[in-house]
Amino acid sequence: MEETKTAQKTRLTFPKGFLLGAAAAAHQVEGNNTKNDWWRAEEEGKLKAKSGLACDHYNRYEEDFQIAKKLGLNALRISIEWSRIEPQEGKWNSKEIEHYRTVLQKMKDLGLTRMVTLFHFTLPVWVADSGGFENQKGVEAFARFAWFVAENLGNEIDLWCTINEPGVYTAMGYRKGLWPPFKKSTVPMISVYLNLIKAHKSAYHAIKEVIPEAQVGIAKNNPYNEPFYRNHWLDRLLTRVVTYIGNHYFLDRIQNECEFIGLNYYFYHQLRFHHKHGGVDMNRNRHEEYRHDHTEFVRSDLGWRLFPEGLYHLLKDLKKYSKPIYITENGLADAKDAHRYNYISEALSATKHAIDEGVDVRGYFYWSLTDNFEWHEGFWPRFGLVEIDYETQKRTVRDSAKIFKEIKIE
Ligand code: FCB
Repeated sequence: MEETKTAQKTRLTFPKGFLLGAAAAAHQVEGNNTKNDWWRAEEEGKLKAKSGLACDHYNRYEEDFQIAKKLGLNALRISIEWSRIEPQEGKWNSKEIEHYRTVLQKMKDLGLTRMVTLFHFTLPVWVADSGGFENQKGVEAFARFAWFVAENLGNEIDLWCTINEPGVYTAMGYRKGLWPPFKKSTVPMISVYLNLIKAHKSAYHAIKEVIPEAQVGIAKNNPYNEPFYRNHWLDRLLTRVVTYIGNHYFLDRIQNECEFIGLNYYFYHQLRFHHKHGGVDMNRNRHEEYRHDHTEFVRSDLGWRLFPEGLYHLLKDLKKYSKPIYITENGLADAKDAHRYNYISEALSATKHAIDEGVDVRGYFYWSLTDNFEWHEGFWPRFGLVEIDYETQKRTVRDSAKIFKEIKIE
């Protein structure tokens, strides 16, 4: 990663049909999602920021889609907010269904392929109160919701994404305790993770029952892990075990229930078996300032080390599933827009490299189209191709966003 902006153009050509898009999630952009567990926690002061009106995307979606189109994108990934559709158990809100129908039709009118996520971290309060995915009831409720969306909006959805980042959701809500339901407890954490496997499968079957030809997948967050000491057997073993549990356990179990794999890529870890204490040190963005080639890491505003070429290795690694792959998220918080152009350019080169070596990658979705509510961090991290002025809701396209117009699709 070079540190500065570059005047150089990115000249890459992707195969016919390749999707170049951006991703977002309802609670992070829509505003006034008053019926979910995040909103409640925000109101109760359990989070440092309130999502409030967010980007007012609920009302300004048309403007946002038009911007996406102008940037040269041909696809978008959005999420449908469960708590809007089913604010109370079994009570379906037809007004909200119509809202999403209009939203999805607008995308189609603009020639944007529509990928839709059904669970992107937020639960209706009634689901959260009955234990969320800690129990079978949550799994069944989710499958019913998936079925309902398929029945009512199915023909407006091109690609389905059941669950966003099962691992991140469980870690943040049940191990680190930073997100609802703010638990730090191993037993519920494991049961939620295992139940999310069931939830994916049940939702998959529910959707396919209504629409047999539906293209259904998941957005799986896989970090790229390397041993800290490449020749040390303990570090290598550790890397294999951590990668299996984190990157493959879930996918291995759902591989017969998906038409594609969605990959969210943000993190590069150097794993070290901590010899002194006999423990495991993940070195997550903490100690190591240098890469294996001794060049210094560039970091995003959140302190995440930027390592776009990790994408190549992860894509190669997913090849074994013999499924089409979409990069469902990849991006960085960069308020000054100093690194975004180069980062995307290198991430797309890594993608192209994997395609050239036979990996069936069908699309790349940058996170995110606009700045948005970054969960427990609040509004300060700026991930957008488009800057949001939260005082006025004015949208301003960042310079780096020009990259998508430079990419060719055969
Ligand atoms: C991912 C989430 C997404 C966004 C990005 C920065 O883990 O799926 O909602 O917050 O990180």
